[in-house]
Amino acid sequence: MNARINGVNMAYTDDGRGMPIVFVHAFPFGKVMWESQVKGLSEQFRVIAVDLRGHGESDAPIWRYTMEQFADDLNSLLDHLSLTQAVMAGLSMGGYILFAFYRKYAARVKALILADTRAQADTGEGKADRFAMAQLAWKEGPGAIAEAMMPKLLSTASLQGRPDLVERVHSIIAGNRVSGIVGDLMAMEARPDSVPLLKQIARPTLVIVGEHDIGTPPSDARLMAENIPGARLEIIKHAGHLSNLEQPEAFNRAVRGFLSSLRLSPLS
Ligand code: MLT
Repeated sequence: MNARINGVNMAYTDDGRGMPIVFVHAFPFGKVMWESQVKGLSEQFRVIAVDLRGHGESDAPIWRYTMEQFADDLNSLLDHLSLTQAVMAGLSMGGYILFAFYRKYAARVKALILADTRAQADTGEGKADRFAMAQLAWKEGPGAIAEAMMPKLLSTASLQGRPDLVERVHSIIAGNRVSGIVGDLMAMEARPDSVPLLKQIARPTLVIVGEHDIGTPPSDARLMAENIPGARLEIIKHAGHLSNLEQPEAFNRAVRGFLSSLRLSPLS
């Protein structure tokens, strides 16, 4: 499906009925990374997966990528779908975006799922890496970004023993456009520290992390879970950074368990 959102065409999928969950993807992926969640959760829930601007089947302009802009796009998508509230789930960059979303649109958040992400801003070294990655994308294209990122995305066991998964991850990244990749890098580099926000989050929250995540390790997940009042922490075994792709059943079980514990009534 497609909607005109804040001047760009935004693609999304919308499956199932019941409590709405909006899935927000990582850098530089797209809604396809949530296929197993769409399949596994849409029997019980209304599962919406978006291609953020710059990704997948959405437009990829060369201008205006900030965490706040991504949050505004999600807010406008909720308007388009006539949803007052939804469970908001983001992985890695998706989590960074949800912090921006919560700052601006907390009233629309029914519950939060923060997977393989972190609340801290980039360090000085991290910011320099964003610049280097943007130059790499510009000079050598998205395939080079896939090569550079791969070692940090999956557990060693999957990197060595699951060539199909490695190939799938590689092809999703390589299918991106340079404008979107560079836009994300600028947005991530400029994002504020969200650690002070954690204690103010007043929504049921599930923090998920792959036990072997080296990009946003379990220590980052613990920091979030310990500071967000009442948050629940789930560590996914045998998974690295892309825990939903690497261990989809365990990931879906964690989401189902969390949502059923909320006893939320279905929303429109
Ligand atoms: C992601 O998976 O979204 C990225 O690894 C996040 C980041 O580079 O900080």
